[in-house]
Amino acid sequence: MSMDYISAYKTSLADPEGFWLNAAQAIDWFEPPTRAFAPELGVYGRWFPDGVVNACHVMLDSHVAGGRGDRTALIYDSPVTGTKRTYSYAQLLTKVSRFAAVLSDLGVGKGDRVVIYMPMVPEALIGIYACNRLGAIHSVVFGGFAANELAKRIDDAAPKVILTASCGIEPTRKVAYKPLLDQAIAMSACPPDAVIVLQRPELKAEMIPGQDHDWAGLVEAAKGRGTPCARMKATDPLYILYTSGTTGTPKGVVRDTGGYLVALAWSMGALYGIKPGETFFCASDIGWVVGHSYIVYAPLIVGCTTILYEGKPVGTPDAGAFWRVAAEHKAAALFTAPTAIRAVKKEDPRGEKFATYDLSHFRALFLAGERADPATLEWAEGLLKTPVIDHCWQTETGWAIVANPLGLGALPVKHGSPTVPMPGYDVRVLDDAGHPVPAGTLGNIVIRLPLPPGCLPTLWNDEARFRKGYLEGFPGYYQTSDAGFIDEDGYVFFMARTDDIINVAGHRLSTGGMEEAIASHPDVAECAVVGVADAIKGQSPVGFVVLKSGVSRTEAEIEREIVALVRERVGPVAAFKMALTVARLPKTRSGKILRGTMQKIADGEDWTMPATIEDPAVLDEIGGALAGRK
Ligand code: COA
Ligand code: AMP
Repeated sequence: MSMDYISAYKTSLADPEGFWLNAAQAIDWFEPPTRAFAPELGVYGRWFPDGVVNACHVMLDSHVAGGRGDRTALIYDSPVTGTKRTYSYAQLLTKVSRFAAVLSDLGVGKGDRVVIYMPMVPEALIGIYACNRLGAIHSVVFGGFAANELAKRIDDAAPKVILTASCGIEPTRKVAYKPLLDQAIAMSACPPDAVIVLQRPELKAEMIPGQDHDWAGLVEAAKGRGTPCARMKATDPLYILYTSGTTGTPKGVVRDTGGYLVALAWSMGALYGIKPGETFFCASDIGWVVGHSYIVYAPLIVGCTTILYEGKPVGTPDAGAFWRVAAEHKAAALFTAPTAIRAVKKEDPRGEKFATYDLSHFRALFLAGERADPATLEWAEGLLKTPVIDHCWQTETGWAIVANPLGLGALPVKHGSPTVPMPGYDVRVLDDAGHPVPAGTLGNIVIRLPLPPGCLPTLWNDEARFRKGYLEGFPGYYQTSDAGFIDEDGYVFFMARTDDIINVAGHRLSTGGMEEAIASHPDVAECAVVGVADAIKGQSPVGFVVLKSGVSRTEAEIEREIVALVRERVGPVAAFKMALTVARLPKTRSGKILRGTMQKIADGEDWTMPATIEDPAVLDEIGGALAGRK
């Protein structure tokens, strides 16, 4: 194994103070921390307790002050609108500082929340950095969620202001964001004081007098104004990012400021092998954690160029889109989800599109968000002839738990494993009783506390849920809710979630949330949603429904309504396309629905009859219903 990795990892666990204080020197603090970790603070301790910093200062002001103002900070590349724009660090700073004045005029200050429901446009980043500047806490909500999901997040975050755009642009349709937001606000118990609307030429939004403000108008009126950076404690929240839990109520992952900046700065060099001034292409969405960390934050922290790509891996216009963007902007690396590569592979299996681009600057492809299947890894390696690096993390951790640190000298790849734990992550595998299991044995993947800098210190408004959901299952450890194993060489393998979360096209979704939507249909008695294998998306949801007796309409009619209901309540991102009526759901004698067994039957995998099943015949009925539909 690479000695650099081994020594970094060992030092991070043996001397976390030394390791992280050293890493913290990469950041331009207002007051550098004198201590790395304070075990007496927070739920399990807090990082850099006496550091004072501002994320916007680190990402923009300090580069401009350091003479790097002319360097390109942001490239906006939007095949769906036919637009390309670049912003230097100095230009971005001017825009952000002015927009911070706009927000401040609307009463936004330190600690206030600002919800951002926007597509992949530069204004979304400007809004985020302006929040950073003021010390306000942003919460970005992914555009593919429905009004109902947005309302839940608004209620929990209680934002003073919401930033939105008139529309998002999907390859086949325009998504009118503003009516969705209006519906969400109407449902919400915490309406904001103001909404700022970016009118896009592709589809204009109706404005509500007294609530809505025109983005361009406010910015024009604030010409020449600027706002200083607020002095924030390293432990102050930077953002809240909602993610799926096992119920329909999303979890508000809180990110602190100092620890996150330090961890991301460390990762850019050591993990991704990226040097200041290079271009990093992360093709996620700012609504997901990967987009937060590696589109919005990390590249600018270290003085790189970030690419904001408003398009898809395929269809905008073709399967060469990623390679076109990487070639044109001389990206050193691409970070995306395996599902995107599977989509590219399906459309361009022989890499004919790829062959038309000059990727001489390109050094590595990074994949995360779901398990990277060996076939996809092999295909990408064969095509790119560069390292293809799988790494694993969660919304909660904010950066990789397990990865192959390219910047420290890549370790040999084992397909199926994202490789080894990153510094600060003491990863273990325990059985259900909390005992360590031997190498190669499947168990619960946990991380010994404390979590390293950058990881969540708690959940917004709900410390009890944080403790219960993550810390109480295995005292002294953070529970990832992933099952897997560590092999004899210390490689970690993530195999499956241990809860009811499924991963659809790299998007984390709660089956519980979909079940809540289905159960609200007046003809449904009960239901269960499971994730079945999908060649492109990894998993796709299937809902099994039991109808109330005496329902007069046809099953097909009700199933269609259920599909529409999930789209309306959860959103198109759930990609819920199949509801299947069954007479009964398989349950244990204590009434627990046997979702795992149903999933295995749907996937055609071997399964064993659960000893506690109430009525084994129900499983045959499930198999029959699926066979009838295939
Ligand atoms: N706003 C509004 N709607 C959105 C949206 C957004 N930001 N993003 C997706 N949707 C909609 C899509 O239009 C689609 O709607 P439809 O049912 O009307 O077609 C639905 O949500 C599902 O979208 P998606 O999951 O993107 O499926 P797809 O079939 O359109 O595309 C992939 C498949 C694989 C190309 C696509 O899922 C993809 O690029 N995945 C990568 C995911 C990723 O980067 N995840 C981040 C983790 S690193
Ligand atoms: P999210 O919070 O959306 O990033 O989803 C986190 C979950 O996605 C993890 O708990 C894993 O179940 C899964 N996941 C993410 N990356 C990987 C990976 N590289 N390999 C296997 N599973 C992954």
